[in-house]
Amino acid sequence: MLLGVNIDHIATLREARKIHDPNPLEAVFILQNAGASQITLHLREDRRHIHEEDVINICANSPLPINLECACSPEIIELVCSIRPHRVTLVPEKREEVTTEGGLNLLSPHLLSSITKLKKHEIDVSLFLDPCEQTINKAYEMDVDAIELHTGEWSNLFLTAYSNLPRMHNAISSMPQNRSILTQELKRCLENLQACAKLTSNLGLKVYAGHGLNYQNVIPIAKIPQISELNIGHSIIARSIFVGLFEATKEMLRLIQK
Ligand code: PXP
Repeated sequence: MLLGVNIDHIATLREARKIHDPNPLEAVFILQNAGASQITLHLREDRRHIHEEDVINICANSPLPINLECACSPEIIELVCSIRPHRVTLVPEKREEVTTEGGLNLLSPHLLSSITKLKKHEIDVSLFLDPCEQTINKAYEMDVDAIELHTGEWSNLFLTAYSNLPRMHNAISSMPQNRSILTQELKRCLENLQACAKLTSNLGLKVYAGHGLNYQNVIPIAKIPQISELNIGHSIIARSIFVGLFEATKEMLRLIQK
């Protein structure tokens, strides 16, 4: 199992002070030494954390491949084609969201032209999709290289069932509260992710997964045999505050490579 570490939240911390520190580029070398396989970053239209100069510097200097997440907006795609990361993961974006909510809508107006343009620039394309077999079958027709399965529902169910979050101000109001319903939902959700991973792999596409994965919920996802890579950000960066980025990454690798 390969690990892509999403370093957006290093830039979130920098933007909290609007200065130059901490620099996300420094993380790249620590992550390489810790055994990560890839650097993931999200150039959002509102530039709330990663800025284009980060993408340019990191792409130019990273010894690890770069997986750049972005929306299908023509200006962003134009910029990304000039920077040429190894891979682009197309994601939906809403201005007001805290983090990426839900997978990509395959009817998004600029999706097909974005894929064509990226492929012309020899950039691998991955689509961030909700785990839905019908959507995956449609995505197969779009000449992409990979699908990243959205694990947000799994993560939210897991937090609600097994943490103190439901009693805190950040409780997720859309989640069921009853423990036995949560347990059944978790089972259904995992089985669905397993079926979607199998389908994606049978279609000949690479299968990745990510969103909301942490040290508590990652193992069942890491055990899905068709998934070759996990992209994890918030939990690793959060843990790195206490144990350092090197150790936080190692701890995650120990869990997913068991
Ligand atoms: N994969 C994709 C496509 C994402 O948009 C994100 C969040 O930016 C992640 C993975 C990482 O999610 P998290 O920060 O919750 O680990």
